[in-house]
Amino acid sequence: MIASEAYPFSKTGGLADVAAALPRALGRLGHEVTLITPRYRGVAAATVVDTSRIEVAGTWFEVAFGEASLGPGARVLFLDCPLLFDRPGIYNEGGVDYGDNAVRFALLSAAAIDWMSRQPVPFHVVHGHDWQAGLAPVYLRDRFAGGLPATVFTIHNLAYQGIVDKAWVPLLGLRWEDYTLDGFEFYDRLSFLKAGVNFADAVTTVSATYADEIQRPEYGYGFDGVMRARRAHLTGILNGIDAEEWDPRRDPYLPQPYDRDDLGGKAAAKRALLETYGLPVDDETMARPLVGMVSRMVDQKGLDLIAAIAGELPYMDATFTVLGTGEARYQDMWRELASWRPDRISVYIGYDERRAHLVEAGADIFMMPSRYEPCGLNQMYSLRYGTVPVVRAVGGLVDTVRPYNPRNGQGTGFLFSHYSPDALRATLQAAIAMYRGNRKAWTRLQKNGMRKDFSWDRSAGEYVKVYKGVMATRQGRPTGGRGI
Ligand code: ADP
Ligand code: GLC
Repeated sequence: MIASEAYPFSKTGGLADVAAALPRALGRLGHEVTLITPRYRGVAAATVVDTSRIEVAGTWFEVAFGEASLGPGARVLFLDCPLLFDRPGIYNEGGVDYGDNAVRFALLSAAAIDWMSRQPVPFHVVHGHDWQAGLAPVYLRDRFAGGLPATVFTIHNLAYQGIVDKAWVPLLGLRWEDYTLDGFEFYDRLSFLKAGVNFADAVTTVSATYADEIQRPEYGYGFDGVMRARRAHLTGILNGIDAEEWDPRRDPYLPQPYDRDDLGGKAAAKRALLETYGLPVDDETMARPLVGMVSRMVDQKGLDLIAAIAGELPYMDATFTVLGTGEARYQDMWRELASWRPDRISVYIGYDERRAHLVEAGADIFMMPSRYEPCGLNQMYSLRYGTVPVVRAVGGLVDTVRPYNPRNGQGTGFLFSHYSPDALRATLQAAIAMYRGNRKAWTRLQKNGMRKDFSWDRSAGEYVKVYKGVMATRQGRPTGGRGI
């Protein structure tokens, strides 16, 4: 498996959670998985098991692989190349992408393939994630001696397409014959994402609804035609969540454990959250619905909708705790709201694991009005923690949150379809009103959500089906291989 980030070693978003949890889940099912990911600054050195020299864009890079265990059947190999990865950021610094990202992530795939080609026991499947691993199937075809493993490519976010000038084609050791409409050419430039989509034997994305959406222009980000052409090889597999990392019964960040039979610890978490965020911890605030958000502050996550109703938030019957980083205008918006109404709105700009857990547990309502959402993990964490999601009905949010039905008490959250400030306001108000007005129904809603099973075991089983499918169709596949 090849991924550009993996929790807890590196993380900018949900990809990191998936890249760490999926190998573990496959390991639990009895498979053997090696995850290859860069060793960024701050990642501890691991036992070096391999060294090599790889040429990318006319430069020879000295690389080493350090090995660590991820659990039974799963290990990680850190690609160590300080020149490219020992930097303050993962993809960018001060909001500006590194100019040599094409080199950095071409090296990731090239080094992974190079390492694989020197292993005594062949692999069955190579599975790459997002554009950073897009060249893997191409390098595999071009550089791998012996029986080719089957390839799978997973799209976590179609909006990030790894597009660079076509001058990179020969520099990255790629062939002009592949610079075509059904290869990796995209509007006269090279797209790493398109390489992954078109050269892998199978393509997956992280929810069934998103798999449908990306075949349409509204959600295709220019790739809808590409996705339609690959429709027969495309599957949507919903992400799981790491059920140990995110469990209110044994979450070390919470003051007190809780579960659906005893929600007492949730009030303690609310208190801790208010304290952490410097908000009043009086009876009035404890009784008022607390709305939480943990999010990259970008348009994808619906921040523009929130901006459109920002002036009303301080007057709503709610308290807001927000965690995230992203575009300066959205960070400033939240800071301004917090200084306007410091007893009601508090924001922490930054990345903070403890706060993420506290918000998920301590809030009453979790707000996620995404413009698009391939899967989304936070709404699943919320459900597990008895925090009712208010989400837009899009992508993985549709597949994980069921609308509350007052007639039979079924459902797990509140959804709105139309991407508009009015729809967000109305839905948020409905959730707030229900919290205030019908506590019995609210508790039922919480418990409905807490009963849902989003563990990885089911999703990992779906990936195994995809792996078996591509292995069966791959000619000359190796026998007795060792894993993924
Ligand atoms: P995306 O990958 O699009 O950002 P997901 O919902 O799939 O969205 O995953 C986001 C992940 O990143 C979650 O695990 C969430 O808790 C975490 N996260 C996002 N922002 C922060 C932050 N500021 N601090 C801590 N964790 C964060
Ligand atoms: C991406 C998507 C998010 C998804 C995550 C993991 O970052 O934006 O919806 O949950 O990948 O697949």
